Amino acid sequence: MATITLNTGAVMPAISLGMWKIAKDTTASVVVEAIRAGYRGIDCACDYGNEKEVGDGIKAAIAEGLCTREELFITSKLWNTYHAKAHVEPACRKTLADLGLAYLDLYLIHFPICCKYVPIEERYPPEWCTDAGVMEIVPVPVTETWQAMEALADAGLAKAIGVSNFSCSLVQDLLATCRVKPAANQVEIHPYNAQASLSAFMAANGIAVTGFSPIGSSSYVEIGMDKGHSKGVLENDTTVAIATAHGATPAQVCLRWQIQRGHAIVPKSTNPGRLRENLAAGTDKFVLSAEQMAQITALDQKLRYNDPGEFTKGMGPQWAETGYPIHD
Ligand code: A2P
Repeated sequence: MATITLNTGAVMPAISLGMWKIAKDTTASVVVEAIRAGYRGIDCACDYGNEKEVGDGIKAAIAEGLCTREELFITSKLWNTYHAKAHVEPACRKTLADLGLAYLDLYLIHFPICCKYVPIEERYPPEWCTDAGVMEIVPVPVTETWQAMEALADAGLAKAIGVSNFSCSLVQDLLATCRVKPAANQVEIHPYNAQASLSAFMAANGIAVTGFSPIGSSSYVEIGMDKGHSKGVLENDTTVAIATAHGATPAQVCLRWQIQRGHAIVPKSTNPGRLRENLAAGTDKFVLSAEQMAQITALDQKLRYNDPGEFTKGMGPQWAETGYPIHD
């Protein structure tokens, strides 16, 4: 099974199960099923609202003897409302308590966007907007948040720390001031959003790249953000032809393309067959040729489905027209 060695020396599975949008009532059983199928990485976040249930699944899998804690690689993410120094550690401890863990393998800043603090006991997860339906931005510099993340690494609460949805320029700035280098940057990557320059920049700086939404629009159909592509890359002539040539599925081709680029990926599935299908892309069962890799990369349209610059439109007076602007 493919793995990625982080700049800390830790080994991360190249394929982790993405937990975004998995309903609470199925989460624990999906986690157990995934671990039974061979997954050892679980990609969580406060914002996904299901960390308690992920914790139940992890506990059940360990109790069943399917794995040990040490064999698992658990990632979580700091939500936007907890960027101020005083809120980082309590947020991490809440995630750890929900997951039933003493440490995270990787803790990421979820977005380079700092929203007004919401106390945990008031609303959890706090989501993007205040009770008044407004996204309120507060001025906390990334360096402040990062220093608090470094303190989590020092304390052993997170074995590695990193970022998510960060542009190259933000990472460059962070590198200028950090004491602990980010281990990973998790961003949206699929054949319609290939992120070639971001991938090269992170590789040059020893930062692992994790691609979320690796099969593109499918993740966004249920939340009305698929831009009219109900299947997207899964029905693209190129991915379908390459899949047919290998006796694989178009989804596996999209996943394999990232594995061969040296990326980690976090495909979500609640379906036992698709869980296994996705994990198989991490074995050398089929290998894409250099020409096939280039054909898939050429599908790039710089198309993001998960773009705060679009989905925050209307979330408050200052964002009504433009949405919150973050770019790569
Ligand atoms: P399901 O859970 O029913 O399998 P994400 O991009 O966030 O990883 O989400 C992937 C989306 O695509 C989910 O809606 C998931 O639904 C679906 N999916 C996951 N794996 C596959 C696959 N191998 N083929 C087709 N659809 C898939």
